[in-house]
Amino acid sequence: MNMYARLAGTGGYLPQKILTNHDLEKQLDTSDEWITTRTGIKQRHIISEDESIVSMAEIAAKEALKNAEVNAQDIGLIIVATCTPERAFPSSACLLQERLQIPACPAFDVMAACAGFSYALHIANQLIQAQQIRYALVIGSEAMSRLVDWQDRSTCILFGDGAGAVVLKADNTPGILASQISADGQYSKLLYTEKGNNQALYRGYIQMQGSEVFKIAVKTLSHLVEEALHLAGLRSDQLDWLVPHQANVRIIEATARHLKLSPEKIILTIAEHGNTSAASIPLALHQGICDKRIKPGQHLLLESFGAGFTWGSAVIRY
Ligand code: ACO
Repeated sequence: MNMYARLAGTGGYLPQKILTNHDLEKQLDTSDEWITTRTGIKQRHIISEDESIVSMAEIAAKEALKNAEVNAQDIGLIIVATCTPERAFPSSACLLQERLQIPACPAFDVMAACAGFSYALHIANQLIQAQQIRYALVIGSEAMSRLVDWQDRSTCILFGDGAGAVVLKADNTPGILASQISADGQYSKLLYTEKGNNQALYRGYIQMQGSEVFKIAVKTLSHLVEEALHLAGLRSDQLDWLVPHQANVRIIEATARHLKLSPEKIILTIAEHGNTSAASIPLALHQGICDKRIKPGQHLLLESFGAGFTWGSAVIRY
């Protein structure tokens, strides 16, 4: 009998502190107008000193477990997607496992920048389909504010912090209809962090050739979403929601146009969250489910593109 991964529950966490474009105007040569028209971002959440990507992941994971009505003891796989881990080791996933008192099971981090959640979801999907595990906790948690140079107006305005979590369960009915991941390292010099120092794992600021990244993102995502639909055996008019990685509203709208999907069918969080890297898709998913826009039986297309370059997608029947 075929086994599928179904979305059983979602959770999210955003730090309390909000940094608006107007706040940034006071410390940088930038404007709310520039940021809004170029990116769609109005504000972002910023992690506090005493928080970490593990503490944020813990809150999001507990909410996802509660919503899924699944006990932590039943989880058989933990994957945390992050490019801002606290330590080289133990992994964020193992630190989270301890906090949630999840019994022995595979637990590891995935580092694929903004496509990290797509990678984590794909791996969990494969393991559930292969009937290796029944319940998986898949998380994106990021402290991007600790990775940006707050003097660099071309990058710091883009990013925000937060965590999103999903619980997947094995089921006889789909579920995730298709998922895919890929990367092309030849573009590694268009978006990268400088060499780190010994103080912290992620103290190498982000460097980005923004307009080049923009163009390749739009092109790659257009192919990606077509392929995703093909793999799932769906037409674009059968899609109910696009749940994209939130890097730039113009990239997202270009992808939606390519799919001939109306803007009302996009779950957008970018205005309030900014780019939370691997956390952006699970946070958007959580938002769409919480406000009841996403309904049981509907078809969702998740897609992401990030440094590497890396990219990935999933088509889900909710
Ligand atoms: N405020 C005001 N002016 C600015 C700012 C700012 N914050 N930042 C840059 N500018 C200026 C530039 O200096 C430049 O000025 P010039 O024309 O005098 O030289 C001008 O604005 C245009 O700069 P561009 O970089 O060409 O602006 P662009 O329209 O490309 O927008 C942006 C920049 C928003 C970064 C866009 O290129 C983008 O979104 N790129 C993709 C980002 C992305 O998807 N990243 C992938 C995920 S991230 C990850 O994986 C971790």
